[in-house]
Amino acid sequence: MAASFGAAQVLVASNRGPVSYEVREDGSLDAKRGGGGLVSGLSAIGPDAGALWVCSALGDGDREAVRRGVGEDGVRMLDVPADVHADAYNGIANSVLWFVHHMLYQTPLEPVFDAEFRLQWASYEKYNRAFAEALAEEAAEGAVAIVQDYHLTLVPGMLRELRPDLRIGHFSHTPWAPVDYFRLLPDDIAEQVLRGMLGADRLGFLTRRWADAFTACCDALVGGVGDTRIGVHGLGADADFLRERSHRADVDERMAALREEIGTAPEGGARRTIVRVDRTELSKNIVRGLLAYRELLAGRPEWRERVVHVAFAYPSRQDLAVYRDYTAEVQRVAESINEEFGTAGWTPVVLHVKDDFARSLAAYRLADVALVNPVRDGMNLVAKEVPVVSDEGCVLVLSREAGAYEELGEDSVVVNPYDVSGTAEALHEALSVGAGERAERSKRLAAAGTALPPGQWFLEQLRALRD
Ligand code: F6P
Repeated sequence: MAASFGAAQVLVASNRGPVSYEVREDGSLDAKRGGGGLVSGLSAIGPDAGALWVCSALGDGDREAVRRGVGEDGVRMLDVPADVHADAYNGIANSVLWFVHHMLYQTPLEPVFDAEFRLQWASYEKYNRAFAEALAEEAAEGAVAIVQDYHLTLVPGMLRELRPDLRIGHFSHTPWAPVDYFRLLPDDIAEQVLRGMLGADRLGFLTRRWADAFTACCDALVGGVGDTRIGVHGLGADADFLRERSHRADVDERMAALREEIGTAPEGGARRTIVRVDRTELSKNIVRGLLAYRELLAGRPEWRERVVHVAFAYPSRQDLAVYRDYTAEVQRVAESINEEFGTAGWTPVVLHVKDDFARSLAAYRLADVALVNPVRDGMNLVAKEVPVVSDEGCVLVLSREAGAYEELGEDSVVVNPYDVSGTAEALHEALSVGAGERAERSKRLAAAGTALPPGQWFLEQLRALRD
């Protein structure tokens, strides 16, 4: 299982791995390989390198695969007990750390750090320890281990104690909270998180803003970052993959179906499209995006019948009630806009909630305007992908709170994500940009958004750790 980068073995650790299993009706196991930046990043060191990816079993299929000893080469799935994993993943990672870094609490009533929280925290420690122990066991002398994300903040410190010979990196795919917000966490927990991360030789963030926020937390709470180096690697879109994948037959089919749903404007020609594609994630701000679209239709009636908001909101973290409620709210608001403004031949909002990658690419190709308005986001790859794929070039309406703003802000129509009226105005402005300027801007966005493709993004981190 030893992979090499230079002479060193490479290990990656993340909660969600590159493969997942489902038990078929006949009892056999169906393996599904996932995509994403880390999968293509890791492939950059070559398939023969045989890097080891340590991840968690997430569902019953995964647990069954571990028990049967079924597995992919280069992947070690940890069978953390389901209740420990649920406390660590749903209870702490997604309901506390994610909320802190994305600043999602409605603070009059939450968070509440009580005895129940302490029990869940103990599970988070256990779950992090399982990863640290697996990495310590698998790593060859002097290996490089790169740990991913807020699920595993304690791993670098634990692993450092077990294996001082390793070079340890950690990469955060989320924003980092400003000091005052990070201090919502109980003091001992805040300190434990920071000290856990500082066990790494080097910490990676998606933008300078998140790196600086982390440093500020360390300065305020633990007397600085010590010997740990901090780096910024702005993960970009994978242009080659996207261009090839978005021109396959299944995408063409989905485009034809979408064109039907979008329909033609009263004076002929296709209606304009405002496209958004998100996991239905609390930070994505889909509801305010819909409210802004409603205000556009109300305040600028000239757009009625001439534009369609194509919104794909794919289910995410449905174990959490607050996510289920959010999905329902997205559907409710979309329906109410269609009731208020829709006509016999025009559905103002085309909402799809069933994940379909080919249809997402079809929507990217058709996009006149891409709406990316998160309240806070580590990067947001959709903002980088749509300009690469859109056939005619698109205008990007972009939240200043998305990590992608650092690289794409200059060529976007920038919005404050809480300002619904401002976003409505931005949509009008974006829809009004002429074809020539739109194509120019889109080209510049695509260049900026693909400057650091996943393979290079991963290699950069390895080199920085090695040097
Ligand atoms: O987008 C930020 C991120 O932390 C990714 O790095 C990670 O893949 C994802 O969120 C976690 O999502 P999930 O809970 O669906 O695994």
